[in-house]
Amino acid sequence: MIVYNKNKPRDWENKLILKYLDEFNEIYKKRPIKNNHGGMSFPHMFGLYFFLKKIKPSFVVESGIFKGQSTWLIENTLPNAKILSLDPNLNFRQYISKSQNVEYSSSDFVDQNFSEVPNNSLVFFDDHQNFYERLLCAYSFGFKHIVADDNYPSLQGDTYSFKKIYSGSGLNDKRTGIKKLIKALLLLTLNNIKKKLNKNLINTIQKYELSIQDIIKTKNHFQNIEKLIEIYFEFPPIFKKKFTRWGDNWDEVNYPTPKPLLSDEQKEQYSDAYKDSGNYTWMCYLKLIE
Ligand SMILES: C[S@@+](CC[C@H](N)C(=O)[O-])C[C@H]1O[C@@H](n2cnc3c(N)ncnc32)[C@H](O)[C@@H]1O
Repeated sequence: MIVYNKNKPRDWENKLILKYLDEFNEIYKKRPIKNNHGGMSFPHMFGLYFFLKKIKPSFVVESGIFKGQSTWLIENTLPNAKILSLDPNLNFRQYISKSQNVEYSSSDFVDQNFSEVPNNSLVFFDDHQNFYERLLCAYSFGFKHIVADDNYPSLQGDTYSFKKIYSGSGLNDKRTGIKKLIKALLLLTLNNIKKKLNKNLINTIQKYELSIQDIIKTKNHFQNIEKLIEIYFEFPPIFKKKFTRWGDNWDEVNYPTPKPLLSDEQKEQYSDAYKDSGNYTWMCYLKLIE
């Protein structure tokens, strides 16, 4: 497999991306959530910062808030942008914006009112949902700029990502097991009881929770979306380690990766970036056709 790449903008070369690193290094030190395990860390926060600086959207939708680190980053990078922050569970938030520009909602992306979307709007998906469906919905709602965080390679990860779509690998959610089964049964039982007690209750259980989000192996999904893509760009890792986060060799056969921005000689100077370098998951940007 190779890194898919389409119409990379000229000013997105590594040496030009690096011009933003020192200023971001200082911003990162001011992040509100120091322990964001399970959420964004240096490599992808830098990627998102870079994309926001380049695109300068006036409206940003963030799907997947968790503790609120990305909300803080978007708000700080674009103080005048309107931000719609979505997560079915708003209780994880530790950083809650007080800005009038930020609106929170626990309803899903597909259930929002996007009848009027400014042309330069950007949607940032960090919600572990099916990216094939997300991309088609985003396009039909009028979004042209998309950033996706969970761009897992074909053999890894719990999400049907762009890289999986491109490789035709489908998705085999391997998290099934006795613990998952018990959790799924409990969720379904509880949902049933709640609905018996309250006939008006609408409680959507996520496929993700039940580990039933498998996708067949097919190249068709990529063929269907390729014609919508004007630009596809994978943000490079800052540092590339010898082993992946899954413990195997970080080689180009299983883990095609853009050339890293820095080499190990610079790990002292950018120690936060180096410490978080294992959290890289091939964040990507797509510009869809008009
Ligand atoms: C990886 S975390 C997000 C990290 C966050 N962006 C940050 O900056 O640290 C994934 C989040 O997606 C949320 N999520 C799950 N299903 C979702 C959905 N359908 N729409 C939006 N968010 C969803 C989860 O509740 C979780 O908070």
